[in-house]
Amino acid sequence: MDKLLIRGGRSLQGEVLVSGAKNAALPELCAALLTAEPVTLLNVPQLQDVSTMLKLIRNMGVAAERADDGTVHINASALSTPEAPYELVKTMRASVLALGPLLARFGEATVSLPGGCAIGSRPVDQHIKGLAAMGAEIVVEHGYMIAKLPAGWKRLKGARITTDMVTVTGTENFLMAAALAEGETVLENAAQEPEISDLAEMLIAMGAKIEGHGTSRIRIQGVDKLHGCTHRVVADRIEAGTFLCAVAATGGNVLLRHGRADHLDAVIEKLREAGATVQAMDGGVRVQSAGGATLKAQGFRTTEYPGFPTDMQAQFMALNCIAQGTATVTETIFENRFMHVNELVRLGAKIQTDGKVAVIEGTPRLSGATVMATDLRASASLVIAGLVADGETVVDRIYHLDRGYDCMEAKLRGIGADIERLKA
Ligand code: UD1
Repeated sequence: MDKLLIRGGRSLQGEVLVSGAKNAALPELCAALLTAEPVTLLNVPQLQDVSTMLKLIRNMGVAAERADDGTVHINASALSTPEAPYELVKTMRASVLALGPLLARFGEATVSLPGGCAIGSRPVDQHIKGLAAMGAEIVVEHGYMIAKLPAGWKRLKGARITTDMVTVTGTENFLMAAALAEGETVLENAAQEPEISDLAEMLIAMGAKIEGHGTSRIRIQGVDKLHGCTHRVVADRIEAGTFLCAVAATGGNVLLRHGRADHLDAVIEKLREAGATVQAMDGGVRVQSAGGATLKAQGFRTTEYPGFPTDMQAQFMALNCIAQGTATVTETIFENRFMHVNELVRLGAKIQTDGKVAVIEGTPRLSGATVMATDLRASASLVIAGLVADGETVVDRIYHLDRGYDCMEAKLRGIGADIERLKA
């Protein structure tokens, strides 16, 4: 397994390019299943999760080609096997995003249940409930969701769907299914993440009729056919937020090219309160910071967009570890998302957890050690901690990082970090 070796203590300077968003690219690759015409996605990030999704759709009989410049051509005209097998789903929960489009276009789908994952139990009951409201008959057998239309039905039927909680991939599954359903679907309690809006824009470019994306009520008038399109994947706000935290913590002055400050309001507000300067500018966002103990620790609660993202909790915690004062962080989305805490403590951080709450007491110095990545965002938090720690930090099991960050160590090296990949 590859590792990262980081020699901490350098400030970061220069420019870094923000890639396309993982959490937009994954549903958008699935949206291409909704049409028999060719779809082109631009700005698709080079990530393990994208490779897994390409494998999943190719396994269905879909032609999908990825070029080095981030362009992906998909042609689902020959899709023959509307199935997502356990072997692929188990490595990436987002595979459940195939369910809505397959059901909408083919009237049947067999998708493995994702099972638990490191950060929580993460059930898919809401996905099933919503698609069932549109008429799908779904049984769970042998670890698979087997879905089909009732006898004599040609299409799903529009419905009013109110989920018990806000679910991002759930909202995406319903959007894709409703785009080809008969009649109107109204999604109440819909997720408002920028990736939802980006998916909605892509579907609209394919001929879908959608209103209200970006709010908690989305209306979709189903159409009987969607066509091909070319769509550019929105910039990754979590990657950008991770770099913002890294620069704020180490100190420095970096322009994140293509970064969308307007998608990071909650994080940027906390960074400013901590003492960093963050400026939205044409084509990007600039962060300047004196780093370390010039920062003040900031408490926050993770909530759905536009609140503080759970996907930024671990990275901001790394910053809090070396700031002045004490901060309370409450994780409200996932039940087990503090696995980075013990690893940060190995680097000298002072953190106490009690259930959903972590209390971080800032300390002037972290000291390098070997730590283990446990999930995607936890890995990014350990990288940030390694960048500020004295001496050498080795982050083991970085396959988690490779799932969701496009060339992270090369990008960090480009802005002055002393970081290298140790090949297994
Ligand atoms: C997406 C993101 C992930 C992010 C998360 C929360 C993608 C590919 N992944 O994950 O990076 O951390 O949103 O912002 O976009 N829940 C249920 N039943 C369901 C669905 C969800 O109980 O059927 C619960 C989950 O366990 C969790 C909460 O609802 O506690 C929110 O989960 P959800 O928004 O669905 O997360 P994902 O879409 O899986």
